[in-house]
Amino acid sequence: MAQYYITTAIDYVNGDPHLGHAYEKIGADIIARFKRLAGYDTYFLTGTDEHSINVARQAEAEGLSAKEFCNIMAGRFRSAWDNLGISYDRFIRTTDDDHIKTVQDIIRRTNERGYIYKDIYSGYYCVSCERFIEEKDLIEGKCPFHPSQEPEWVEESNYFFALSKFQDPLLRHINENPEFILPAARRNEVINRIKGGLQDVSVSRSTMTWGVPFPREIDEDQVVYVWFDALINYLTGAGYKPGANEFGKWWPANLHYIGKDITWFHCVIWPAVLMASDIPLPKTIFGHGFVTIKGLKMSKSEGIVVDPLKVIDSLGADPLRFYLMKAVPHGQDGDFSFEGLAETYNADLANDLGNLINRTAAMIKKYFKGEVPLPSGLYEPEDEKIRILGDEISQIAHEKMEKLDSSGALHEIWGLITAANKYIEDSAPWALAKEGNNKRLVTVILNLVESIAKAAVMLSPFIPDSSEKIWDVLGLKGKAEDIRWDKVIDIRGLLPGINLKEAELLFPRLDMENSDFTKGEFRLAELARKEKKKEKKQKADQLIRDIKGEEEGVLKMDGLISIDDFSKLDLRVAEVASAERIKGTDKLIKMEIDLGTEKRQLVAGIAEFYAPEDLVGKYIVVVANLKPVKIRGVESQGMLLAGSTKDLKELAIITVDRPLPKGSKVR
Ligand code: MSP
Repeated sequence: MAQYYITTAIDYVNGDPHLGHAYEKIGADIIARFKRLAGYDTYFLTGTDEHSINVARQAEAEGLSAKEFCNIMAGRFRSAWDNLGISYDRFIRTTDDDHIKTVQDIIRRTNERGYIYKDIYSGYYCVSCERFIEEKDLIEGKCPFHPSQEPEWVEESNYFFALSKFQDPLLRHINENPEFILPAARRNEVINRIKGGLQDVSVSRSTMTWGVPFPREIDEDQVVYVWFDALINYLTGAGYKPGANEFGKWWPANLHYIGKDITWFHCVIWPAVLMASDIPLPKTIFGHGFVTIKGLKMSKSEGIVVDPLKVIDSLGADPLRFYLMKAVPHGQDGDFSFEGLAETYNADLANDLGNLINRTAAMIKKYFKGEVPLPSGLYEPEDEKIRILGDEISQIAHEKMEKLDSSGALHEIWGLITAANKYIEDSAPWALAKEGNNKRLVTVILNLVESIAKAAVMLSPFIPDSSEKIWDVLGLKGKAEDIRWDKVIDIRGLLPGINLKEAELLFPRLDMENSDFTKGEFRLAELARKEKKKEKKQKADQLIRDIKGEEEGVLKMDGLISIDDFSKLDLRVAEVASAERIKGTDKLIKMEIDLGTEKRQLVAGIAEFYAPEDLVGKYIVVVANLKPVKIRGVESQGMLLAGSTKDLKELAIITVDRPLPKGSKVR
């Protein structure tokens, strides 16, 4: 039997699972369930990524050890996925023993093959992405994915992986294997970035202890960089045997199903690490889109989150699974709203599917005492049509699923439900009963049951609980998910003689006026408003920073300030006690200033205009009550005043023209 190994990204555990994480697990679960139905021996891996800085910091803040904190959080993720019906075969944690051994073994393999070396890393690091960021990739000094956070400046002795050696092999592999990166748009992005050049990447951290220890024989003081550790989970999950040159029953993976923000790690770093280790590459990496709220990306670090468990509280998991597949189409972004969920539930599940089943069941009870009749042998052309349509749809939906287009497949399957509802209207079974045309009535009822049973099987990856309920209502033996997809066309054989069960009403309509969902909508609107406000404030702050010191600055600020506004500034005279350039930068000088009563550290972007030694002894003016900030990882406890031309080509520091005691107030 062909096998299929599918994985999701593993989630950071520094916050609770949100709808973005849930979307990915649901998307992967639908594919895994489909593959099982299609006859593949399937293995589905998901789990948690636990060695992040944020986790260590949060655990400390909560007075727990990092491992204790992770135990709690991993439990929450796992239980969320259980509640959403995610049919994973293993829930992996990067703190699992077998994983730690696998990571150390891969470090050894790459090291033995000459792809690991020691050097100094200095640069920016975004803690939320757990990613080293090159200066050119910062937007207004911030990580593009986490604009509300300052990237941290890191300087440490690390081990590096020689990624730069893999530029050509990677491009070759991607070009020769069109299925390697999907959808095509992601593939093109990755190709262009690789063509832009690859730099070696750090694979260890020496300034933290929470992580997989580097193999002792290589270095005793380093832990493995969290992304290197995390990617290797796919090998651990496959059953990798450290030291044995056996990559595990399930390797190579058929599909890594991940978000588009982490394609770089999966499509570039990961395959390069595998190449460096002589391990075959996964077949496909699919970068899905984002769930957004009012157009904003859901993200815990930016504070925009919806808890999937709250959403499924009243409706159950299936409506959410169904809605997300519709709202966030194949490979694209899509917006979540409670109102959209409620509307989709009412229109598709309650009206289309629920009514089809309830009406059909009512007719079987009324006309055949609840027992599905034996075929009568009388067929009109329309009766043939609906059966053929069911068969065709099963093939088209199958093809779409094989192409990982779950939302497209769902759309096709829905075509059968719409057609079956229309078939009821067109064939008017109540009129057939009235006319005494029992033979045709039998045919119509059988065709309806057949269409519903076919839909139940094909929908089982999407709405597994509901599919089983439908199967049960029809009185069919076993489970919908036990029917192989290619046997959907033979379902008719199972039907005659089955007895309908007395069933709960499937998908009762939601009262939109009084439902909790409308309240949810308000909460979301509020969230989005707050976020917009935050965005606006950040933009305004940035603008003020931009125009500070420029000739037109005061005018641009549009308006006059009162003496009270001015008196908020604590301006002081200070002597520059010492000054030095900040390594690795062209513009920054770090200086110690003496305010008479205390000494402080300042960072200023004046290195192009002043040599450090010229500054020492100058009496300058500083803003003494400014909140400290980190610039390139160095704290600045205030700001000096300087004048400059608009184009910033000339700059002069404000000094006092006759001696004043240090710390004198400037008024
Ligand atoms: N820990 C890393 C992944 C390591 S995989 C070897 C990570 N974790 S995460 O918690 O930030 O994200 C986990 C997954 O959820 C990623 O694939 C990410 O793209 C996905 N999503 C997070 N927010 C999302 C949305 N709003 N919408 C859809 N998926 C997004 O990255």
